[in-house]
Amino acid sequence: MPPEQQFKSECQVELTAMAHDTDLRGLSQTWFVTAQNHKYSYHFTWQGRPIIQYPQDILAMQEIIFQVKPDLIIETGIAHGGSLIFSASMLELNAICGGPQNARVLGIDIDIREHNRTAIEAHPMSKRISMMQGSSIAPDMIAAVHDFAKPYRNILVCLDSNHTHDHVLAELEAYAPLVAPGSYCVAFDTVIEHMSEEHFLDRPWGKGNNPMTAVDAFLQNHPEFVIDEMMDAKLMISVAPRGYLRRK
Ligand SMILES: C[S@@+](CC[C@H](N)C(=O)[O-])C[C@H]1O[C@@H](n2cnc3c(N)ncnc32)[C@H](O)[C@@H]1O
Repeated sequence: MPPEQQFKSECQVELTAMAHDTDLRGLSQTWFVTAQNHKYSYHFTWQGRPIIQYPQDILAMQEIIFQVKPDLIIETGIAHGGSLIFSASMLELNAICGGPQNARVLGIDIDIREHNRTAIEAHPMSKRISMMQGSSIAPDMIAAVHDFAKPYRNILVCLDSNHTHDHVLAELEAYAPLVAPGSYCVAFDTVIEHMSEEHFLDRPWGKGNNPMTAVDAFLQNHPEFVIDEMMDAKLMISVAPRGYLRRK
């Protein structure tokens, strides 16, 4: 077997074993919940902008964006803009590596704060970024995004806005159909299902009402999507378990 192939197959064996390691899963869950008490995901930046993600998920997105080489990434939930800048910077690297030269990121947020908009627009990566303000599930927004997406052929979608079941299910129904075969629709914060209610007392979402319940409902009617279980196995610590959905 060629060495590259050998390495890949060893990784598969190791990941399968890791996925079944209940001790490691338990430790990861304990670590995750304890870190959450310190708002762990709020303390990172990407090229200077706060990105509200765990490092493992950022690395996962890097792998996916390099593999898929999308010509458009649609993201719901902008906040400080770190994830938009991240995606745009990955598209910039893809372009250097022979990917699409004019790939773009479209960000949607119900409330793009002025200081965030100013900082995003001043960033060198903004040349690849467009933003739309409004609810991601408003019919006119869905129509505007579909219109924007028309010229693009290889779309990737990331959902990270309102985390209630109804909202994420509506986003999945609205935007997953835009995802190209082989590309992904990523639903962030499915991990809410694995956490205790005390973490979300001031939020409309919680156990039984979150992106994971939405993904489960969505998958019942959309066999064209599958959960990337190998991604879950290797990340172990992630806000998006069962949330990396690949289109067949
Ligand atoms: C978790 S933050 C996004 C974090 C960002 N993706 C990152 O990684 O840095 C969630 C964002 O969703 C936005 N949001 C909440 N409800 C929304 C809705 N109905 N439509 C669009 N955006 C919404 C909020 O304004 C907030 O900026």
